[in-house]
Amino acid sequence: MTTLLEVERLTKRFGGVTAVDDCSFAVEQGTITGLIGPNGSGKTTVFNLITGYLRADSGRILFSGRPLTKSDPAALYRAGLSRTFQQARIFPRLCALDNLIVAAGHSWHSLFARRRGRDDSRRARELLDEFGLAAHAEHPAGELSYGQRKLLEFASVLMSEPRLVLLDEPTAGVNPTLVETMERHIRRRHAAGFSFLIVEHDMSLVMRLCDPVIVLDRGTRIAAGSPDAVRADPAVLDAYLGQ
Ligand SMILES: Nc1ncnc2c1ncn2[C@@H]1O[C@H](COP(=O)(O)OP(=O)(O)O)[C@@H](O)[C@H]1O
Ligand SMILES: [Mg+2]
Repeated sequence: MTTLLEVERLTKRFGGVTAVDDCSFAVEQGTITGLIGPNGSGKTTVFNLITGYLRADSGRILFSGRPLTKSDPAALYRAGLSRTFQQARIFPRLCALDNLIVAAGHSWHSLFARRRGRDDSRRARELLDEFGLAAHAEHPAGELSYGQRKLLEFASVLMSEPRLVLLDEPTAGVNPTLVETMERHIRRRHAAGFSFLIVEHDMSLVMRLCDPVIVLDRGTRIAAGSPDAVRADPAVLDAYLGQ
């Protein structure tokens, strides 16, 4: 197996709070790896460290065997690592199509240029189709429902053809039908060769979708393994019950 992402002894403090505490784990290529843990266990902070939105106090992160040294989300994105946010980040005034074209890494200016990359436009339309958003292509993304925004954000992350996709709570606050839709999209992309690291609080979804599952508690890894192994681990039960 090829290791895509390695997190080594990562620590991040916010004042007196150690949000991530000597945390290590790896994501192998071709997996849908789950990252779970009670509220406040450091999952989002780990994502922010990996994607360069925060700087670690110590430890290091390797992507494709190379240490990530610069805090530069855009460079990472180009290198093949992209993410969604717990609160979907889209550009509400841009139409859905332009949200995807911007996500392909073009400048704002290119939106107004006469010749935008024809390939990008085509791919953006294909993605909107795939995600059931074609009817909204020309409408401001701000008019989309909460769930549709999550789908649009997922689609926009795919514009860069990432090797590893980080999803932060992709189904938080969406209805059961949309949970199924999101799961279908993740599975389809996984079958096409994409790897995933997913933070998710919907345990039944994690248990049927992710393998391995990594469990954080108080910023550190307390378990990792198959869904069944993790579910049977007393330390995991303790962490959730002691919340
Ligand atoms: N920007 C911040 N400033 C201060 N404390 C923070 C900040 N971000 C997160 N924390 C704290 O770090 C801990 C981990 O938070 P977070 O990574 O959001 O957890 P999770 O995503 O697992 O719920 C929590 O105690 C949280 O309050
Ligand atoms: Mg979080």
